[in-house]
Amino acid sequence: MPEVWERGADDEFAGRADDGSYDATARVVDARGVDDEQRVEAALRPKRLADFPGQPRVRDQLSLVLEAARRRDAVPDHILLSGPPGLGKTTLAMIVAAELERPIRVTSGPAIQHAGDLAAILSSLAEGEVLFLDEIHRMARPAEEMLYLAMEDFRVDVIVGKGPGATAIPLELPPFTVVGATTRAGLLPAPLRDRFGFTGHLDFYSSDDLAAILVRSARLLGVEALDDGIAEIAGRSRGTPRIANRLLRRVRDWSQVHGRGVVDLEAAHEALALFDVDVRGLDRLDRGVLELLCTRFGGGPVGLSTLAVAVGEEPDTVETVAEPYLVREGFMVRTPRGRAATALAWQHLGLTAPMDAPGAGAPQLPLDGEGRFS
Ligand SMILES: Nc1ncnc2c1ncn2[C@@H]1O[C@H](COP(=O)(O)OP(=O)(O)O)[C@@H](O)[C@H]1O
Ligand SMILES: [Mg+2]
Repeated sequence: MPEVWERGADDEFAGRADDGSYDATARVVDARGVDDEQRVEAALRPKRLADFPGQPRVRDQLSLVLEAARRRDAVPDHILLSGPPGLGKTTLAMIVAAELERPIRVTSGPAIQHAGDLAAILSSLAEGEVLFLDEIHRMARPAEEMLYLAMEDFRVDVIVGKGPGATAIPLELPPFTVVGATTRAGLLPAPLRDRFGFTGHLDFYSSDDLAAILVRSARLLGVEALDDGIAEIAGRSRGTPRIANRLLRRVRDWSQVHGRGVVDLEAAHEALALFDVDVRGLDRLDRGVLELLCTRFGGGPVGLSTLAVAVGEEPDTVETVAEPYLVREGFMVRTPRGRAATALAWQHLGLTAPMDAPGAGAPQLPLDGEGRFS
């Protein structure tokens, strides 16, 4: 994987770049480099809630929270957005600020290693400002404690001096709204989680929603796209808009070099094959995980860290990037003793599933057009 990663457009703030974490949804090499990639991603971000396709539930909930705050002429409750990478957390944070017509301050958990870093940011916030804290689960513990005090009482204690003579001077803050984003809501300590008045859980997108996103993106990129090409890309994007947009650009590239410059079915087939995206949208990491699970570990169950070492990835990457989609699509199950491949996974890899594989012997359910059980 390594050399193919790129930074997402949402990393235009301090911290994310230096912390060694990587955007593991970035699975397709973009030879034109990171800057261009960031620019394109930012250009494809919807700016208002009304332009944001998919996630109807979160959109309705968010819209209500924002509208109510607007009517009361108050700052809205703090908002937590959780879900796998590339589903629109950063985009929604930007939209919250745009809808409130307020400035947004952007930082991330890994950038806040000391409570002092956070105190400096908090004490410079303007009234009603939106503070976007990406990867909030990775903030240092003392900063976390300062944050929940600030979120609740709009106050920070500034420590002046050192040692026994140090004193805490309370500093009042103007009301503001924290928008936190996390791929691991479960890692947030309960007191912090409780300070958020609203939590939006982003889920993978349906193919129809992805198709709507792709149509819009193609228009913004100025490339002609046919329905069959769009549908093919949508069905193979792992339910993830960031991946859909990236695949769209690679299909466009293929078509401009080998085809007729139009995103059509042939271009989609050829480009997706070239970039190792299989018919179910699984990429090399996904298939690597399944292959090792089946061939080296006999289908499991095997512990997450053992599996991660075998695929040569961080456990966190396997857990937040590959696993949610594999589980949701029925290729993998989590058991108390570890991860196990389902009969569907064996079948997908062209292998014979052992009798005791989860899902083996289950009646064959008809698949719908998206390859899901209907
Ligand atoms: N609902 C959506 N509609 C259109 N584009 C989207 C949507 N959600 C995400 N995107 C696109 O996907 C990319 C990644 O989204 P982002 O908000 O950065 O995801 P996250 O912060 O959850 O990792 C963005 O550049 C944006 O263009
Ligand atoms: Mg983001």
